[in-house]
Amino acid sequence: MMNRQGRPSQPEKNAPNKGIQTSTGNYGLDIEEPLSYELGNIHTSGVDLPSCGEFESSLGGLERNSDIGIAGLSEPEVLRHYTRLSRKNYAIDMGLYPLGSCTMKHNPRLNEKMARLAGFADIHPLQPQSTVQGALQVMDTLSHWLKELTGMPAVSMSPKAGAHGELCGLMAIRAAHEAAGNPREYVLVPESAHGTNPATATLCGYKVKTIPAEADGRVHAALLKEYLDENCAAIMLTNPNTCGLFEREIIEIADAVHEVGALFYCDGANFNAIMGRVRPGDLGIDAMHLNLHKTFSTPHGGGGPGSGPVVFSERVAPYMPVPLLENDADLALVEGMDVPNSIGRLTAFHGQMGMFTRALTYMLSHGADGLKQASDDAVLSANYIMASLQDVMSVSFEGPCMHEVLFDDRFLKDRGVSTLDFAKAMIDEGFHPMTMYFPLVVHGAMLIEPTESESKASLDQFITSLRSLAEATKQDDVTRFTGAPHFAPLQRLDETAAARSPILKWTPKAE
Ligand SMILES: Cc1ncc(COP(=O)(O)O)c(C=O)c1O
Repeated sequence: MMNRQGRPSQPEKNAPNKGIQTSTGNYGLDIEEPLSYELGNIHTSGVDLPSCGEFESSLGGLERNSDIGIAGLSEPEVLRHYTRLSRKNYAIDMGLYPLGSCTMKHNPRLNEKMARLAGFADIHPLQPQSTVQGALQVMDTLSHWLKELTGMPAVSMSPKAGAHGELCGLMAIRAAHEAAGNPREYVLVPESAHGTNPATATLCGYKVKTIPAEADGRVHAALLKEYLDENCAAIMLTNPNTCGLFEREIIEIADAVHEVGALFYCDGANFNAIMGRVRPGDLGIDAMHLNLHKTFSTPHGGGGPGSGPVVFSERVAPYMPVPLLENDADLALVEGMDVPNSIGRLTAFHGQMGMFTRALTYMLSHGADGLKQASDDAVLSANYIMASLQDVMSVSFEGPCMHEVLFDDRFLKDRGVSTLDFAKAMIDEGFHPMTMYFPLVVHGAMLIEPTESESKASLDQFITSLRSLAEATKQDDVTRFTGAPHFAPLQRLDETAAARSPILKWTPKAE
């Protein structure tokens, strides 16, 4: 059966009544969406432009001599194409999005309203600074809040994501060591770390030494000391860590690291669990990134634009990237000779203005007590899920968790269902799966982060689904899992083929 674009219509399995054949081959909204190139037609145009008439080319023979090959579509056709695609996607605006370590929290609409104000949205980074004092004020106020919340004396607003913030922090740490005469050789990274930590250390020219996981999922100062010597440049430690646990020995760890002259990079991706309760500056940290899209509710945005400001201790602050925002009579962005030890620019211009406005809106609309409440609620939600499911799923580490709860696959043992099968079955339940197989320190990890956004009713609905799935894994017939998802537009992809022989180029059909 073909759909209206002449492509095979695959969702017959979802047809509400297989006896009915529609004229288009589609069943309701279950349409396989072609590419816009296939949908449109290169011989038509969606806009009416006046003819440019005769003109003399000034391109010196470099002008295009063939069709550009972009399909023409009318405005409604374009809108409908993207709206149809969006309906195939799962989004935080559709339901609970439990991806652990990702913090998929609600993006308040007030943030969007503020970010769209013309004074923020329509300015240009090359405008004279005297004409954008309001925008600089937003950056300055946000910087102030970030420093207050973390208890750190300096902040760089340039980085465009958490991983970019890590690079920024470690480059500054390297510069601090170089200024002292020796960049040192390696960076310590716990086994449970996010992959961006070792990648960052490698990118900065360091060897990575891995600290093995301890039975309670935390790093212990005694074991750490066995890995530490004067060649250590830094430790990169996430707190709360990727198992959803607070690193209880963090102060002893900071002391041990500083004793050998190394510096402490804290991966602050999980700051959303401790905001308002713990100030990293009180723990001996030298640099830490904050993912505005995780803690401060800015959109994740499909890979960008993100924002990952980095806070610094006095020791590392002189090496921060430029520009720096100075607040004298006027607000001014400074660089060059005014910041002689800086590692330089990390990005064109000054960071992500739209994200700054959204994050500050989130902060101001919550207030200091509200931000603490948001962290407390995130932790409460995760513990509620843990307590509600611990009799049917296997919790990896005993005791209360922070903002995310880690399960492993022990409860699936001998049932013919893997973590992947279980996660895929969640799609049929109407949920996005949790994070799978991360962190690597437990077998078949399932990491769930509900965030503070969810009501108790929404958490209960999620818990009911997971409980019924966990019970169903005990049945003899587990095709509900091994064949899942049964009700999604696409079933399981051949991940091996996708990785080994990907088709990366679109080829137009012969006319
Ligand atoms: C612990 C941790 N570190 C670093 C990152 C990288 O952050 P980003 O995705 O903003 O680059 C993440 C992202 O999820 C994370 O969870």
